[in-house]
Order: sequence, then C-alpha cells, then structure tokens
Amino acid sequence: MRASKRILGAAIGALLMGSVPAYAETIKIGIIGPFSGPFALQGKNFQAGVEAYMALNGKSVKGNDIEVIYRDLPAANPAQSRALAQELVVKEKVQYLGGVYFTPDAMAITPLLAQANTPLVIFNAATSAIMNTSPLVVRTSFTTAQTTTPLGKVAVDEGVKKVITIVSDYGPGVDAENAFKKAFEAAGGQVVESIRMPMNTTDFSPIMQRVRDSGAAGLFAFLPSGPPTLGFAKAYNETGLKKAGIKFYAPGDLTQESDLPALGDAADGLKTSFHYAVSHDSPENKKFVEAATKAIGSADQLSFPSVGAYDGMHVIYKMIEATGGKQDAQKAVDAVKGLAWTSPRGPARIEPDTRHITQNIYLREVAKGADGKSINKEIQTFPNQKDPGLATQ
Ligand code: PHB
Repeated sequence: MRASKRILGAAIGALLMGSVPAYAETIKIGIIGPFSGPFALQGKNFQAGVEAYMALNGKSVKGNDIEVIYRDLPAANPAQSRALAQELVVKEKVQYLGGVYFTPDAMAITPLLAQANTPLVIFNAATSAIMNTSPLVVRTSFTTAQTTTPLGKVAVDEGVKKVITIVSDYGPGVDAENAFKKAFEAAGGQVVESIRMPMNTTDFSPIMQRVRDSGAAGLFAFLPSGPPTLGFAKAYNETGLKKAGIKFYAPGDLTQESDLPALGDAADGLKTSFHYAVSHDSPENKKFVEAATKAIGSADQLSFPSVGAYDGMHVIYKMIEATGGKQDAQKAVDAVKGLAWTSPRGPARIEPDTRHITQNIYLREVAKGADGKSINKEIQTFPNQKDPGLATQ
C-alpha cells in the first residue's frame, strides 16, 4: 500500500515536472562487498562512494527512486558470492549488481548475468580477464596490468636494472607480475626471481630474506589492499630492506591512504603508480572527498575503493537514464559504451570494446602533506591508459 502510494507519487511528480516516464518505480541496486572482517574498511569505502554519489546527484533518476541493497562478503569466497548475487536478483529483484572487491568473487557472478538480465558494474576486482567472461560486465576501477605497466620504465630510469617480483598468487597478482616484467624488460631491466605467495600469507620476513639473497636492487610487489598490504609494507621497513637501499615499486594498492597513518614515517618515499590519490588536485575531487569523508565519518579512512564505487554509480545512473527504468541489461550496457566524464581521479571513459575504464595513471610518492599527514603525492602523469592486459588477449 505504502509502496504503491510512493510509486504513484513519484509518477505524478515526474509527469508534473515534464519528464518522461508514465510509470515510475523503485529501482534496486545490489552491492556486494566486504563490509565486515579484515577487509571491512574496503567495503566501507564502497559504501562511502555510493553515498557520496547519491548525496551529490540525488536519490532518483528520471522519477525512479533508487534503493541500494548491500550484501556482505567478508573474504574471497566464490560460492558465497554467487549465492548472494542470486539472492539479490531472485528475491530482492535488483536490476543492477555492483561492487565486488575480489577477482574470484567477480568470476563467480559473471556467468549469471545473461539469464538474470542484469549488468554488473565492478567497483574493484582488477584482473583483466574478468571482462571476457560476460558482455554484461562494466568496470570502473582499474586493472593491475593498467596501474603497473608504467612502473617498468620508471625503475630502469632510476638506474634499477635487477628486480625481484613478489605477488599474491591469484589473478591480479599474476597480471601484475606479467605486466611489470614485460614493461621492465622492454626498458632494459631484468627480473631475477619471481615469487608468488599464497593469498593468506601474513609472515613476510622469509620473503624479505629472499629479496636480500636475490641480489636484486629493487622489488616489485602486488598484494590485495587491506591487512596484507599493511603487513608487507611494514615488513619491508622492519627487516631493514628500506634502509639497505633496496628500492620498492608497486601499484598504489600497497600504500592506500587508509594504511598511511599506521605506516608512519616508514612509508616516506615509497613510489607507487595508481589511478587515484585522495590528494588529487581538482575541483571534482575536492567535492568528492568532502562528500565521501562525510559518508565514511573520518578523512583518515578514505581510500581508492570509494572512487571506483562513486564512478560505478555514475555509470549505473546513466544506464537507468538510458533504459527509462526498464530492465534491459544489454541496452543498459550498450548505453555506456564510450561514456566519458570527469571523475574525481581525472578524465575517464568506458572503452566500447572492452567495457573497462580508460584513465590516467599517476606516479606518486609518499610524502607529508600541508597538514603534516602522509599522502600519496602525484609526481608524474601517464595519460589515458587503456588496459594493456586486455589489449594483448
Ligand atoms: C582483486 O582481487 O581483484 C583485487 C583485490 C584488491 C586489490 C586489487 C585487486 O587491491
């Protein structure tokens, strides 16, 4: 009764305002992410991005009210991921799926999309090949191949000719290892050893010993952002590798802003490449950071998953606009192919052939900001980078 009154009210409102739909309905968006457990802060950043977008752009699209439903997936767990997506589609009747932090969880959802007639907009999961598993998936985050590739030449230009690579042994780690090796060796460097660690590795001192023993002048690393990256960056410092002058190269997952207070001075000077820094200097980012900080409750907790979510909501709103609120996944996805906008991260575009985001990648260095707090300071821009991981498949 109350719901139908609301629908009628929205429809009358839309008609009075001269906008299109004769019927307006509540459109549900299901967001899956880690909202509890060790990665809860990453999920909290999804939610902050979603809430910031709705605070700045409204909670309805063309007279259709938007309702966001969150589902908690604390760790990489494909079976649970699939079950949550199914429940959102069948029971909650969501028209859109979004979120997804870990690659294996995304891979478990994409086979469901066609039958569910539901697009999936990925806010984080960063393995290139996810895009090949369904024509109904769009990604507003990054891939590790995309963020890593510029680092190969940076290392060689800094005189580092021998590097050891260390990655978590799953999709985004393997992609990062391959992308770094390819770019580094093309620039004249040599990867002397490649280590792949189980995803749940927590003791990094034996790894740091292998780095020392390898004779490499630098290390390249990828781990999924959260407790693993904090542990790894701490170990690099505490085992004396930083002091010994062994250089550190990694995508920005390793120095996410929410880890910087815990790392303290140990993070100073760490160089990473990434699509987004909370300190990015633009009017769009200023507006975003203000709204997202309000949503998350503390500026120290903001990190990159918030911008993937914010832009993901932008894409979903454009899909809803294009379909007039009707459930038509293919039409929704087709409508955002080629979509270009100014994101808080800089210029962004959904590549029509891959449905992945083209964006600037920035070289950054951890430094103290104006208020004395550590930031990722952008020092070089690699403009309009596509996903090289997809281009070569
Ligand atoms: C992934 O599983 O794709 C993933 C997770 C965390 C990251 C990057 C990629 O920081």
